[in-house]
Amino acid sequence: MDIQVFQSEALAAQAAATLFAAQIISKPDSVLGLATGGTPLPCYGKLIEWHRMGGLDFAHAHSFNLDEYCGIAPDHPQSYHFYMEKHFFSQVNLPKANRHVPKGDLPREQSDAWQAECRAYDRAIAEAGGIDLQLLGIGGNGHIGFNEPAEAFTGDTHIVALASGTIEDNSRYFDSVEQVPTHAITLGIRSIFAARHIVLLATGEGKAQILQRLVQSEVDPHLPASILQIHPRVTVLADRAAARLLEG
Ligand code: PGA
Repeated sequence: MDIQVFQSEALAAQAAATLFAAQIISKPDSVLGLATGGTPLPCYGKLIEWHRMGGLDFAHAHSFNLDEYCGIAPDHPQSYHFYMEKHFFSQVNLPKANRHVPKGDLPREQSDAWQAECRAYDRAIAEAGGIDLQLLGIGGNGHIGFNEPAEAFTGDTHIVALASGTIEDNSRYFDSVEQVPTHAITLGIRSIFAARHIVLLATGEGKAQILQRLVQSEVDPHLPASILQIHPRVTVLADRAAARLLEG
């Protein structure tokens, strides 16, 4: 893992945006792996700014988001469909047909429909040619996407029960912890690992401990992000607050 530390959150986010811009410029029909959460917002902000200035054209790009809550409609303000529309898609020229976010609003009892959605999502990524550049945040428990700590690394896109810590962390976006969905559909570790280049953005004091654990850990499914240590091309971009406990 190439770890780069920046003076501020804005500069770390700008570095992530630069990687995405370079990717699009060098390969206009790139397949981008996108993430939600608080961390990527300033990165999306920069990409939108550069798009508006006329320098960045998403007309031929494709995107696949990491995850979506189960049991939540796309127009729910806390759905990741809604987040992506609000914070990115509505402000750039990435064609609607090329944007993909896993469906989260399938009937709860129809497990066949969920399985079909998972398989269709993996197939669509493969048909697009695989992910060129994957943006990741990291959860306080080391999750990437919604791949929570477990006994084994996960494979393809699947349905996951969210860890209680994740539900707690994400309750800040909901009126109460009871309203946070208990399950999500997420790209699996194998699907994430298949990306050609992965950029993990970690900013703020709240990420200092998990970043320290990440760099010190063996590859261990109890810390899902640790798999990134054996990926050939991972760039970790951190601000000083998140990198506070790293040596050197
Ligand atoms: P955050 O979430 O960007 O809101 O901190 C990161 C994650 O849980 O993956």
